[in-house]
Order: sequence, then C-alpha cells, then structure tokens
Amino acid sequence: MKKSTAQAHANIALVKYWGKGDEKLRLPVNSSAAIALDNLTTTTTVEFREDLKEDQVELVGEGFEAGEVEKVSKHLDRVREIAKISLKAKVISQNSFPKAAGMASSASGFAALSVAAAVATGLNLSEKELSILARQGSGSASRSVPGGVSVWHAGTSSETSYAQRIDYPKDWDLHVLLVMATDTSVKKVGSTEGMALAPTSPYFKIAIEEAEANIERLKVSMRQNDFAGFGRVIEDECFRLHMLCMTTTPNILYWRGITVEVFQKLLKIRESGIEAFFTVDAGPHVHVICQGKDVSSVKTELEKLSEIKTIIDCAIGEGTKLVEDHLF
Ligand code: PMV
Repeated sequence: MKKSTAQAHANIALVKYWGKGDEKLRLPVNSSAAIALDNLTTTTTVEFREDLKEDQVELVGEGFEAGEVEKVSKHLDRVREIAKISLKAKVISQNSFPKAAGMASSASGFAALSVAAAVATGLNLSEKELSILARQGSGSASRSVPGGVSVWHAGTSSETSYAQRIDYPKDWDLHVLLVMATDTSVKKVGSTEGMALAPTSPYFKIAIEEAEANIERLKVSMRQNDFAGFGRVIEDECFRLHMLCMTTTPNILYWRGITVEVFQKLLKIRESGIEAFFTVDAGPHVHVICQGKDVSSVKTELEKLSEIKTIIDCAIGEGTKLVEDHLF
C-alpha cells in the first residue's frame, strides 16, 4: 500500500457550530460557515503496513494529549471499514502552529488524516465524501476539506452533512488576525464538553433558528458585496455562541477582560472608517476579520494593548491537498 501525505488548514467559524443532533455521527444542530487560515497547517503522513500489530501514531513536537491517539485510531477504523481492509497504520502528524496559538488543531488534523488515510488505502473519494469522513473525526474538520470560505450543511443524515466552498467577492482580500492574549488562565471547557451542555440553555431552540438565518444573511452580504453587513453577521454569531455558553447549566464563560477590551478597541477603530470585525471561539482569544489593506493599521492599534502577546495574520487557506514531502 502506498504512503500518502496530506496538508490541511485550520478554519475559523463565521457562523458557529455549537451542539450536536446526533452525537455518534457528529451531525450538528445547525449549518455553519468558516474561513480556512493559510498560515495554520497540519501535515499528516499515513501508511498501512503488514508488519504492524497496532496503529502507531505520533504528533511531532508537542505530542498528543490523553485520548487523542484513540480518536485517531478510531478514525482509521472508519477508513478501514470503507476500504474493507484490516491493516494497521503508521501515522505521523505535524502542526505548523503551537497549541498556545489558541486554535484547535482538530479541524486541520482530522481533515489531513482523512485525506492521507483514504488515499493510502487506494480509495478514490470525492471532496464531499472526504468532508463527510472528516466530520466524523471532528465536526469543524468537515470545513477544512474544501477550505476557502465554506458552508457545512447540517443535513439530516451522514450523507447529507458535509461542507462545500461558497463564492465571496474576490476583491475583499479577506484576512483573519489571531489576537493572542497573555492571560489565558480561564477554566478550560473543551468544545465536545461545552457543546453537550448547549441543550440546557433556555435559548437553545431559538439559537438554532438564528444560526440558519445567519447563514442566509452571510450569503446575501457576499452576493451584495456588503462587507459591513458581512461583519455584522460575524459579530452577531460571536454573541449567539457565547450567549448560549453563558446560559447553559453549568454556565461557561470563555471571555477574559482582554477579550472585551479588544472588542472595544475594534469599535473605536471602526469609528475611523476601518472595517474590522471580531469573533471568538471556545476560548478567550479574539479573531479579527478585515481586508488586507487594513491589516497593518488594525495590528498597530491592537498592539497598543499591553495584554496582547502576539498577532498572527492569516489570508484564506486552500482545501486539503496531497503533498510529496512525507514525514517518514
Ligand atoms: O469541531 P470542534 O469540536 O472543534 O468544535 C468547534 C466549535 C467552535 O470552534 C466553537 C465553533 C465552530 O464552528 O468551529
């Protein structure tokens, strides 16, 4: 069997996924949308071999956390089932960004693993089938398969729940700034754990309806070349996610003081005519969406805040692709 290597980008949600309708298949309660980030990549090499009794899985550098190796092995089982093989695999994976960057590597990780493993078994899956496969490892990974700006259709079954690219005005030159705060001493509640609580929020049902409406608003803003409208949806979605988190039992508060300080700074920057919008995932760090022409002014302003450690500038990343440079 051939050795295969794939490279995938992390993605940041514009319309958020928070809650599963089907836990086992990872079917989300609502559709979501995201931008792939060109500077944050995971590269993964997979080879299925006769000489292995167990899967051999390694993450270069920081290593895997408890439970992650089992998740990788379980995902390889999904590929083995489709390919109808029982061979164990050697897997080596490498992230271009440290965990401290505040971005989960599960999206790029499971997207790269899905593509590399499928090709290594000789399967010839379509982008849609690969997105469906990646979704079962980590929901947001479904969006890293097509890359670009994508929508993950919630669907009603495994076959109908996948992501695909959508068009956006090319002259927007979209950028995402990952604003890393120094103080991250927040209680860590992972996305799986936090999401499982979502149905305990009294606003759960209405939040699902709002997410679907926001997908439509996002598409309309892009069709009408309305960048300010696009930004409004992104910020509404940030608040929708965190309103849900803050109203579950128990409550989850992901923000720190600096999170709100960055919001306020951006509102101020906007008064000077610069269009820069915020979003926050399941953590304290703010991600800013703006256009390439405004990156340096936004960075300069945000760097004035003493609690900001680093700002990573990303343009839009491609979909998951095969590469020639194997990791072993
Ligand atoms: O796919 P997961 O389990 O990493 O969950 C992602 C959850 C959020 O990042 C908060 C939202 C999203 O749509 O990416």
